[in-house]
Amino acid sequence: MNNISQLIYLLGGTGLVAKKLKIKPSAVSNWRKLNKIPKNKLNAILSLSSQNNINTDDFLPNHNLDDFDFKILLIISGGIASYKSLEIIRLIKKANIDLDVVMTESAQRFITPLLVTSLNEKKCYTDLFSVEDESKMNHIMLARRPDLILVAPATANIMAKLANGIADDLASTILLASFSQIILAPSMNPVMWSNLATQENYKKLLERGIGFIAPDVGDMACGESGTGRFPAPKVIFDKIISNIITRKNIANQFKNVSIVITAGPTIENIDPVRFVSNRSSGKQGFAIASELSRRGAKVTLISGPVNIPFPKCANVIQVMTAHEMFEKTISQLPTDILICCAAVSDWKFVPKASATKKIDNKNKIKKTNEELLFKTIKNPDILSSIAKSKLRPNLVIGFAAETDNIIENAKSKLVSKEIDLIIANDVGENKVFGQDSNKVFFIDKNNCEEWAEQSKNAVASNLADKINKIFNTADI
Ligand SMILES: Cc1cc2nc3c(=O)[nH]c(=O)nc-3n(C[C@H](O)[C@H](O)[C@H](O)COP(=O)(O)O)c2cc1C
Repeated sequence: MNNISQLIYLLGGTGLVAKKLKIKPSAVSNWRKLNKIPKNKLNAILSLSSQNNINTDDFLPNHNLDDFDFKILLIISGGIASYKSLEIIRLIKKANIDLDVVMTESAQRFITPLLVTSLNEKKCYTDLFSVEDESKMNHIMLARRPDLILVAPATANIMAKLANGIADDLASTILLASFSQIILAPSMNPVMWSNLATQENYKKLLERGIGFIAPDVGDMACGESGTGRFPAPKVIFDKIISNIITRKNIANQFKNVSIVITAGPTIENIDPVRFVSNRSSGKQGFAIASELSRRGAKVTLISGPVNIPFPKCANVIQVMTAHEMFEKTISQLPTDILICCAAVSDWKFVPKASATKKIDNKNKIKKTNEELLFKTIKNPDILSSIAKSKLRPNLVIGFAAETDNIIENAKSKLVSKEIDLIIANDVGENKVFGQDSNKVFFIDKNNCEEWAEQSKNAVASNLADKINKIFNTADI
């Protein structure tokens, strides 16, 4: 009997495994024959094995994470299951993964930082206002360093804080200041879990792209039973590992691919103190830059003036005006892919001089009783100029911000600008600009897909999947 056959046998046989995974028994038979489990079913098999206390190390190929530089931050919050996080630390350490640990004040009532420090052989962080820690590993560094933040156990309290943007201790501040993937493993009394407040927070966090390892159903330490049990540490560990493996697989997806992304607004000066701009926050473009960088692309982000932190990517170029954005984008050619996500001002607004109103570039325009008139000068169309140029990237993607006839307008832009794909969104009042979620239409020459409203991170991830499919299969 081969390894996979043995594992399936221990899990109850072909029929039971197929039933549990809601797949056809013939698929499981095939795995046995080929002695291989497909990647998209590995996670389910790992979970099933953990539930049955089967150590998969004996049957599945070892997780080869050695050449994968991956950093985890574990946040332990204060619940009855806090002590179980010690086993998670042990498993992560055993897998040779770089681990930092932060404990909330309540968690320290259940287990001590000394215990965590000795297990992890590293300082355990507990204090937001520590003078010593701020000078060495400050809270922003702790937030930025990890590739993944695991909160296990996650209390109802820490979920509520994250859902509502409360940052009143080290753990909650890190969670707010991080770009990393966050996964929560909630554990609490069943009534706390089913409380509408907790369920609303859960939904809010899911919508924002926070990952969850769902609590188990069963008897609780408090004597009640229902949903809220902390899953076995091994189950949590296996889910984290399979997440890492998935990331490892996509980490090289865009290796050696150069991508230029424009993001944010541009501003057009009227005089040295006044300007005309738009409401773009840069969040969607930054999310795309971050996602494609995570997948191995060499990303150059050309950003207008924004108030959000820059993502981890190869190169960031800051610009102010449409002209600067045009010049800097051109300066990055040739590139493999261009994604124009910035909301570029279509015009420059040039104040008109009159007999009584002198205008020069250096001085503020004086207020008089006379009307101030402007001449508008068209700015260059970055997307279309590059798409029609000799240095056209292999794939050119644009964003269309529309307030009416979204699909028709976007389709005509796709054709007139000669680009490959367009992501259209309705930017009517308070709809997209500055928000964390986005509802888009994904349009190419032949199709128009309507994507459900989702976080801007999720849009970025789905777009990256699409680009991967097109870029790696088509000869554009
Ligand atoms: C004995 C005991 C057990 C607790 N267990 C849990 C729990 O399992 N889950 C939970 O959400 N809160 C639990 N709490 C309540 C939290 O400790 C409390 O909400 C605390 O403020 C959480 O702080 P933190 O989120 O900063 O760690 C427990 C409290 C006590 C005294």
